Amino acid sequence: MYTIIEDCSPYYIRFKWDGLQEVISSISQQPIEKEEKYPGYQNQWLTNEAAEKINEALPFKNLGLRLSRFCIFDTYPDGGMGIHTDGWTNDDGVNTNEVGINISLEILDDKCITAWYDHDQFKDWPVITTRWSKNVLRDWRKAANYLTVKTMNVRPGEAVLLNTAIYHNVWNKNSPNNRKLLTLRPRVNTIPFAEIKKIMFGL
Ligand SMILES: [Fe+2]
Repeated sequence: MYTIIEDCSPYYIRFKWDGLQEVISSISQQPIEKEEKYPGYQNQWLTNEAAEKINEALPFKNLGLRLSRFCIFDTYPDGGMGIHTDGWTNDDGVNTNEVGINISLEILDDKCITAWYDHDQFKDWPVITTRWSKNVLRDWRKAANYLTVKTMNVRPGEAVLLNTAIYHNVWNKNSPNNRKLLTLRPRVNTIPFAEIKKIMFGL
């Protein structure tokens, strides 16, 4: 059912499926419920009704996606997000988020890079925890000074399964354009990348 474009496990898998283009068109027509602006990007949440509608059209809805996390991640020109792992605090107090799935909405150039980092270099660093993430470096432009283990460039018309439990960041470096993706998260946030990969792709 899926076409794998690039498998760079355990960091990411870029993929697509028949019908993805219709999903992308449909997402662009959905109403936005609220926005939150940050220095390097903004989040735009879909309404619950829109999230339900899009969810129905996704071939991986069996993952049990969290409808309240159907959010457009809009990175500004030269914007980004510093080095972090993703988080979401469960009722039991466990703050993690092992994977994300992103769908390309508006990618006008190839300048936006997602990078993953070696964990050891940050092992003694203080971690700043927010509602969504656990951060070791907030300035995305300084992230290039640290040891990178993998970089990725998402293209138009595709989706990507990301390992968000490994330190990573985003930098829309020197781009004159915003970059927009729909970000999705499984409701059960403790299922590791390898297991999600198996459920989705049988690999
Ligand atoms: Fe992240």
